Amino acid sequence: MSIHKNRKDEHVALAEQFYQSTVSGDFDSIRFIHHSFPETDFEDVKMNTSFAGLEFPFPFFINGMTGGSKKTQQINLDLATVARETGLAMASGSVSAGIKHPETSESYSIIRKTNPQGKIFANMGPEHPLENYLKAVDLLQADALQIHVNVPQELLMPEGERKFSHWLANIQQTVEKVGVPVIVKEVGFGMSRETIRQLVQAGVHTIDVSGRGGTNFIQIENSRRKKKDFSFAENWGQSTPIALLEANSQPEPLEILASGGIRTPFDIVKSLALGARAVGLSGQFLHLVVNEGVEKTIEEVTRWKENIRTMMTLLGAAEIAELQQTDIILYEPLKTWCEARHIN
Ligand code: FNR
Repeated sequence: MSIHKNRKDEHVALAEQFYQSTVSGDFDSIRFIHHSFPETDFEDVKMNTSFAGLEFPFPFFINGMTGGSKKTQQINLDLATVARETGLAMASGSVSAGIKHPETSESYSIIRKTNPQGKIFANMGPEHPLENYLKAVDLLQADALQIHVNVPQELLMPEGERKFSHWLANIQQTVEKVGVPVIVKEVGFGMSRETIRQLVQAGVHTIDVSGRGGTNFIQIENSRRKKKDFSFAENWGQSTPIALLEANSQPEPLEILASGGIRTPFDIVKSLALGARAVGLSGQFLHLVVNEGVEKTIEEVTRWKENIRTMMTLLGAAEIAELQQTDIILYEPLKTWCEARHIN
C-alpha cells in the first residue's frame, strides 16, 4: 500500500480512535439568557442560510475529510448519501491524492455521482498550481473550492510541507482565477483576526475558522510518529468560540463559518449566535456513519434540525441572522481572552 493511501486510512482510524462524544470545552463557557416571551412561532422559523454565493436550506454541513483509498471511498459514499437524503452540503477531503494518483479519483467523484443535485465543495491545500484546483473542481463538479491551511499538521508529518512563505500569494491568485467561490479553512487550530485580515487582503470573503476542541491533528500526527515528541503542542491553537470572537472583532464584512469540535445542535446554535453563517462537522459525521450507519445518521440529522428550530424559537430568532442579536453571557476563559484582545 502506498504512503498516501495508508495516511488517509490512518487519519480516519485515528480521528475515530480519539473521538469523544462529550468534551468540556469553550462551548460550555457560552450561556444564553432565557426570556419568557420570544414572540416567534415555531413554524415561522427559517433555517436557510447563504455563503460563497450559494443558498443552503440548513445552517450546517459535512465538512472536509477524506478520499484517496478504497476504505475512504466507502466513507465518502456513505457521507454523500446522508448529504443527499438530508439536503446538507458536503466537502470532500483534500483532492490532491486524487490528482497525484488518478486511480483513486473515483473515491472523490463518487460524492457527485451519489448526489447529483447537492451542494459540494472540493478541498485542497494552498500550495497547488491553478490547474490542480481546476482539476479538483472538475472532478467533483464542485460548487465551491475549500482551501485548507494546516501548518501545524504539515510540520508534524515527516512527509509534510516545509515551505509556507508563498501560501497567501497563491491563495490570492487562486481566488482570482479558479472560477468558483473559494472558502479558506483551518483544520482545527482556529484563526486569529490577524489571519482573517490577511485573507481579506488576499481577496477571500468566506472563511471557516475551524478551531480547536474536536479532531486534533497534532494528536493524530503525533501518534503516527515513532517518537511522540510534539505532545507539548496538543493544546495548540484557538478554540472555535475564541476564533469566532476573533472573527467578529475585525471590521470587514465577511462570511464566517464555524467548525471544530461541533457535536450537538446546541454547539451549532452557539456558533451561529457568535456570528457564523453556517457550521461544519467532520469528526461527528465520521463517527456516526462508521458506528451507526447511514440510516441512523440521517435520523440524527433530522433530530438536529428539529433541535435547532426549537432553540431558535426559544431565542426569538425567526431566521439565522437574528441569532446574532440574542443575549449571551461569556464565562472564563472566553472573558479573559476578550479582555486581552480588546474584544467587546
Ligand atoms: C479532516 N479535516 C480535513 N480538513 C481539510 O480541509 N482537508 C482534509 O483533507 C481533511 N482531512 C480530515 C480527515 C479526517 C479523518 C478528519 C476527521 C478531519 C479537518 C476537518 O475538516 C476539520 O477542520 C477538523 O476536523 C475539525 O472539525 P471536527 O472534526 O472537530 O468537527
